Amino acid sequence: MSLNISQLGKRYGDTIVFSQVSLSVAPGEFVAIVGESGVGKSTLLNCMAGLDSWDEGTVLLNGADLGAMSDDQRALLRRRHVGFVFQAFHVLPHLDVAQNVALPLLLLGQPDDARVQTLLEAVGLGGLGSRLPQQLSGGQLQRVAIARALVHRPGLLLADEPTGNLDPATAARVMDALIAQTREHGAAMVLVTHSVAAAARADRVLHLSADGITD
Ligand SMILES: Nc1ncnc2c1ncn2[C@@H]1O[C@H](COP(=O)(O)OP(=O)(O)OP(=O)(O)O)[C@@H](O)[C@H]1O
Ligand SMILES: [Mg+2]
Repeated sequence: MSLNISQLGKRYGDTIVFSQVSLSVAPGEFVAIVGESGVGKSTLLNCMAGLDSWDEGTVLLNGADLGAMSDDQRALLRRRHVGFVFQAFHVLPHLDVAQNVALPLLLLGQPDDARVQTLLEAVGLGGLGSRLPQQLSGGQLQRVAIARALVHRPGLLLADEPTGNLDPATAARVMDALIAQTREHGAAMVLVTHSVAAAARADRVLHLSADGITD
């Protein structure tokens, strides 16, 4: 999928979070976004998925204007084409690990246990499918969220600090899995990160600040 953002602006009342943000991500491209804490990286990523609203500008996914769609249309587009790794994981507590990862496939009516197992193994959680989230470490939970975001082969993967809770060696392995899974399907990836090592793997690194976004 392609992503085109033009002159995007977001504010809360009189407080401007960001303005004049323009960027394009081509199909298959991997772009990292870096910037200080509080500058609006998570907000921008949420706008890319139509999970948050904006005050100016446009967000196009494969040329379709997210701002012109109904909530239902945005939800359907997300379900089919977008994978999202939330900074706060949002793993469902009453489902076990494998059920959490399988959820996007169930919502599409395409259950596939082998695919779920492949993804669990790709993020190093092969033996933990029947555990409940409360029985996992923070870094393991983060990897459940990553497997869930990839399981339905999204055309666009949006990942907010996906390696923030991982040691350097595990982080490198998880980045390998993210890159392999997205490259395999020609998916575009936008990664928000404070990790220099993770950003170094991207095709392009963009810096978000209050004035906009720059290469
Ligand atoms: N509901 C809200 N009302 C007012 N301000 C908000 C609200 N939600 C977020 N903000 C502010 O918007 C700004 C951007 O937040 P965001 O979470 O996008 O930052 P971030 O770049 O992801 O930071 P971090 O690196 O710490 O994750 C912050 O300064 C935050 O305080
Ligand atoms: Mg954030």
